Amino acid sequence: MPLLTIQTIPAEVLRKVAQPVPAVDKNVAAFMEDLAETMYKGNGIGLAANQVGSLNRVISVDVSPDRNGKKAILMANPEIVWCEPDEIFVYNEGCLSVPGHYSEVKRPKRIRLTYIDQHAKTCELEAEDLLSTCIQHEIDHLNGKLFIDHISKLKRDMILRKLEKERREDQRD
Ligand code: NI
Repeated sequence: MPLLTIQTIPAEVLRKVAQPVPAVDKNVAAFMEDLAETMYKGNGIGLAANQVGSLNRVISVDVSPDRNGKKAILMANPEIVWCEPDEIFVYNEGCLSVPGHYSEVKRPKRIRLTYIDQHAKTCELEAEDLLSTCIQHEIDHLNGKLFIDHISKLKRDMILRKLEKERREDQRD
């Protein structure tokens, strides 16, 4: 399966809104598998289509400790249908598109969502803690949003400045 190229800030596709897939056909299913493969290769716990330059609403997540099992949950058109508003989970988030930077983000601890899997089956899932956070982070990507949008402007600007500096240094090498 081909590995996809991960886009990093300031790639425009990261700020675009992905569109629902009309159905999970053979092509979409193959893309879902490629997305998972790319996620494992990058050592990420989640990856969204925007991050590999696609605007299909597709994400891959795997927060299991044993990631050799390849137990990725592959989702097309994921949609949060319920969340617990009173309980919050805090996690030091990172992102393959914002390499090397981490920040604590608060999100609802429990969510319920629907999606279509790689076999075109409609599924419902209840998620909590890290899985909940990871899914919300990936769905954010589909809406053109990054984890740094959830933190203070001060911290965000600091991360963006450092990334820009690293990018200029890379270009010089
Ligand atoms: Ni991310």
